[in-house]
Amino acid sequence: MTPTFRQTVRGMRDFLPEEARRLRFIEQAARETARLYGYEEIITPVIEHYELLAAKIGEENRRRMYVFEDMGGRRVALRPEFTASIARVVATKLQSAPKPLRLFSVGSLYRYDEPQFGRYREFWQANFELFGSSMPEADAETIFLTESFLKRIGLRSYWFKVGHVGVLRGIFEHEGIDEETQNSIMQRLDKKETEDALRIIEESSPSKACLEAVKGLLGTSGRDSAKIVARMREIVKGYPKAIEAVENLDEILGLLKTGGVEAEIRLEAGFARGLEYYTGMIHEVYVPEMEIAVGGGGRYDKLVEVFGGGSTPAVGVAMGMDRLSIALEKQGATAVSGPPMRLLVIPVERSMLGEAFKVASMLREEGFSAEIETMGRSVTRALSDADRRGIAFTVIIGPKEIAEGKVVLRDMARREQITVKLDELPERLRG
Ligand code: HAM
Repeated sequence: MTPTFRQTVRGMRDFLPEEARRLRFIEQAARETARLYGYEEIITPVIEHYELLAAKIGEENRRRMYVFEDMGGRRVALRPEFTASIARVVATKLQSAPKPLRLFSVGSLYRYDEPQFGRYREFWQANFELFGSSMPEADAETIFLTESFLKRIGLRSYWFKVGHVGVLRGIFEHEGIDEETQNSIMQRLDKKETEDALRIIEESSPSKACLEAVKGLLGTSGRDSAKIVARMREIVKGYPKAIEAVENLDEILGLLKTGGVEAEIRLEAGFARGLEYYTGMIHEVYVPEMEIAVGGGGRYDKLVEVFGGGSTPAVGVAMGMDRLSIALEKQGATAVSGPPMRLLVIPVERSMLGEAFKVASMLREEGFSAEIETMGRSVTRALSDADRRGIAFTVIIGPKEIAEGKVVLRDMARREQITVKLDELPERLRG
């Protein structure tokens, strides 16, 4: 019988070198995007107080949190996202920082989701948040930034789904539907449980106009933004807050257009996301090869206040690095860098090991990845091992050559070797 500990815990994965390389490549691109857009990195803990993480995350995500009591009796949880932690930092430690405040985070997150294609219990996000601006240009920036990032990693085809929670919430508020009920309606809509959502609305005895407006919005989506916005305007007449939201959305879309966003934007008037803190524009990014979103974000103007900070509008986006890794593979993206050129340094006999260490150190100082033969193999066997592992060059250290300040350099692909002076070795390898 195989002991269960020989397998990873369900939903947890090992990243073997190729997968790890792809994930780190995505992380590097996210870091570079953050630098280019002026987002500074902050690092927050994986474990936080349950209350913080649970506050506005929404019913569904709340149920999927890893919650436990630590040895000090505190009720803690593994972070299921970054936004709550970052908003906590802004509310407590960065209140007087000049605005806008742009913050970047990357790392692993934990949700007790049902493991399936692209859905794991430990996954990675690259997260960007902008605090302090309620202007549409801040919303637009998160979409431009997302596009730059996706292009940087070499993704060729992707599109954005865009909506605005202020439209539906504006109507509900006007009808006197309390926030808790609104949240549960939005949760159902996020899960595409439209019938259930409508049932909850009906139970709140809304006006006939309200039901009609909601149904109208739920049926309104498409690629022609101008047409969809016009239809939304028509539907929300009589609901001032919803009108405001539509105008805000229109402004953001205008900026995306004039600013030259390349990807297709599909506007969905009834779009909702599971996270409860959103107050404005929301969006998700998709690739044609996958049905699940590779990223998502939106505006959340009240969260910093919930954590005791001053009024601080905010907008952000998080990219799912695991799903992006799958998307890159599916789109055959070539930008992912391969392993570095590898060298193996082989002493012809044990007495040459000291010299082999010196040569390997010199090569590393010159920036080469140099391994040393550590299995006690003969030169012949070490060479066939190097072949098997795809090593480009081997450097053979023999007493006669070393006495003359030289080594043997073997090109493994060409099966040729030459004797070179040690101080000319790096140049030879570069050439
Ligand atoms: P989210 O939509 O929950 O948003 O997650 C963002 C992305 O993380 C998803 O689009 C997906 O690619 C990835 N993701 C989520 N759950 C999993 C999973 N179980 N396995 C693999 N990937 C997953 C947020 O987390 C918000 N904090 C985004 C945000 C930032 N909004 C404002 N600022």
